[in-house]
Amino acid sequence: MDDPFLVLRTCGHSHKNRFISFFTTNLSEYGAELMTNEGSLLIFSLKYPPNSPLLNATSLLSNLRSSLPIFSRYASLIFLTTSPPCPYADLLADPKLSDPEVTLKLAKTSPELKKSLINDLPPSVKMSPDSSSCTHTLECVSTSSSPPKFYYSLTPNPSPLLLPPPPSPPPICRSYYKLSESLSSYNLLHKKCIDIGSSPGGWTSYLLERGVDNIICVDPGVMEIKDDRLVHMKCKFEDALLDISSLKFDVLVCDANVFPEVAVGFLEKTIGIMEEECLVNVTLKLTNGRWEGEEVIERIKVMGGFDEVKVEWLFANGRKERNMLLRRSKKIS
Ligand SMILES: C[S@@+](CC[C@H](N)C(=O)[O-])C[C@H]1O[C@@H](n2cnc3c(N)ncnc32)[C@H](O)[C@@H]1O
Repeated sequence: MDDPFLVLRTCGHSHKNRFISFFTTNLSEYGAELMTNEGSLLIFSLKYPPNSPLLNATSLLSNLRSSLPIFSRYASLIFLTTSPPCPYADLLADPKLSDPEVTLKLAKTSPELKKSLINDLPPSVKMSPDSSSCTHTLECVSTSSSPPKFYYSLTPNPSPLLLPPPPSPPPICRSYYKLSESLSSYNLLHKKCIDIGSSPGGWTSYLLERGVDNIICVDPGVMEIKDDRLVHMKCKFEDALLDISSLKFDVLVCDANVFPEVAVGFLEKTIGIMEEECLVNVTLKLTNGRWEGEEVIERIKVMGGFDEVKVEWLFANGRKERNMLLRRSKKIS
């Protein structure tokens, strides 16, 4: 199996460093190494470790699939290829181009580039717009510099590395991306959930998509989605406490516009109604820029008996937001 390359063009420069650390961390098992970092274009080389047969194209795709909502929002292009993206001169030297068995299809690209490529490629290169009759796909990406630099790569068709299209339709609220980024790798099927600060319903719709059994949504605002599994308590969390005190939840999420101390206070009040095995996801809104974070997190960790606590700056978080994820697993008695 040929080792793959991951090509990504970010939307704007501000997300570039986050993508670099995201891939070098998330794809460290594949030895992700940054080969090209030009303008908004990033190219990583990856390796299937020879002694780990499970780390193959299928597992790489499933790893990336869980982050599709991030890519669809913060990258204008992402694809995997089995040939190293190269300049035009190197593409012309590729023996595949003169192989009579090879028929190329151009991957989606700008109409101008498509036209010039069709005109410039040697006439011996066979091309077809029809996927079923072509043996390879020619990908072309450009940097955002002026003048742009172009990189080309040839991937066999059908590609073993095809990423599915990003999820659609677009979510009703951009907050959706925060939860989808944080919880993508957790099993949410049949969970009982509570969503504090749920209006207009981005987080709730994500949880429903992931197959939860039911959700109590607490927010004085309007919920823009309807679902049989959803109950909306149209009030502040402080006023809902009595009504929910007899319930039990597996998942608690909170994106309410409140100071982190208040959000953590909400958690302290709900620990008693969480199942032993539970997941909690809270946006910490550092609106006044001041927060003695470490101490409070340690307190909530000990008090709630959580064994996993992660505070991170998600792609989808605003400048003064951080995401806190807490997990408590079942104690073995
Ligand atoms: C950023 S929005 C939440 C967006 C939501 N996560 C989504 O995906 O649609 C913050 C919400 O917090 C709610 N909120 C603020 N204080 C609250 C409180 N004490 N209890 C419940 N909701 C509160 C506001 O009404 C607002 O709708």
